[in-house]
Amino acid sequence: MKKRDSLFPDLGVGIGFRREFASHFSKQIPHPVSWIEVVTENYMAWENDIQPPAIKTLQRLRKEIPIVLHGVSLSIGSADPLNPSYLKRWKSLIDAVEPAWVSDHLCWTGVNGENLHDLMPLPYTEEALQHVANKIDQVQTFLKRRILIENVSSYVEFNQSAMTEWEFINELLKRADCGLLLDVNNVYVSSKNHGFNPLDYLRAIPRNRVGQIHLAGHSDLGTHLIDTHDEPICEEVWRLYEWSREHFGPVSAMVERDGNFPRWEELEKELLRVKEIQTEVSDYGYRLPQGKAAQPFEISAAL
Ligand SMILES: [Fe+2]
Repeated sequence: MKKRDSLFPDLGVGIGFRREFASHFSKQIPHPVSWIEVVTENYMAWENDIQPPAIKTLQRLRKEIPIVLHGVSLSIGSADPLNPSYLKRWKSLIDAVEPAWVSDHLCWTGVNGENLHDLMPLPYTEEALQHVANKIDQVQTFLKRRILIENVSSYVEFNQSAMTEWEFINELLKRADCGLLLDVNNVYVSSKNHGFNPLDYLRAIPRNRVGQIHLAGHSDLGTHLIDTHDEPICEEVWRLYEWSREHFGPVSAMVERDGNFPRWEELEKELLRVKEIQTEVSDYGYRLPQGKAAQPFEISAAL
């Protein structure tokens, strides 16, 4: 069996921890969850250095299970310089909870000090590429650790783009020496909105740079898909995850749910399906004989 030369550990099945289902974590960690991701900004000290009350929950969970921090406000793609206060408070939280890794998004969330509270896509140009690579280098130097950057979904494209999103990301991972948080649903949403083959995207990503996978649901508005995280994971995304598990190997994967919360039993079904795929597809290029995973795309040509 081939070994995966990964920069990041495989922690198994995770979930984006949200207060809506926190009660299911109050006595013990529910099966099959083996790690959790939390939103960095919910637990960082506030601007006045006061700790948010939620930090107590995080400290308790940290004693029981590995945690990763996922930020939404780094704004790595903005023309604005990095926010020193944000970096300092982020690092303090990292020192306090010792996450397995930390991540944020490949996007910009504001400019001139204004926060748009949305994950805006970048133009895929050489100028933007070097700009983001330089800023990731600053972050990694400050934190003294490699970070993961997540691909976002998008609904518009820039006329100025001179390369595809996957070419941009591939070069960024090398230039910035960072990892990728691969959101398979975002790849699917953007592939439908912009009309590309999601496998062209996934094939371009270097295997050893993928440190984590996100799985989520989206809303279909007929003319386009929106990355809402308020629906079950669709079958096409499950198939892309099966393909990704086979291609990228043992990478930590988790379910993101941010709205229209179902009963825990429904989320548990999705977590068990992640577990089942991880168990069946044990290493890249090798599928166990009893594997039942569907192969909707030209998988054999990709391996
Ligand atoms: Fe995501």
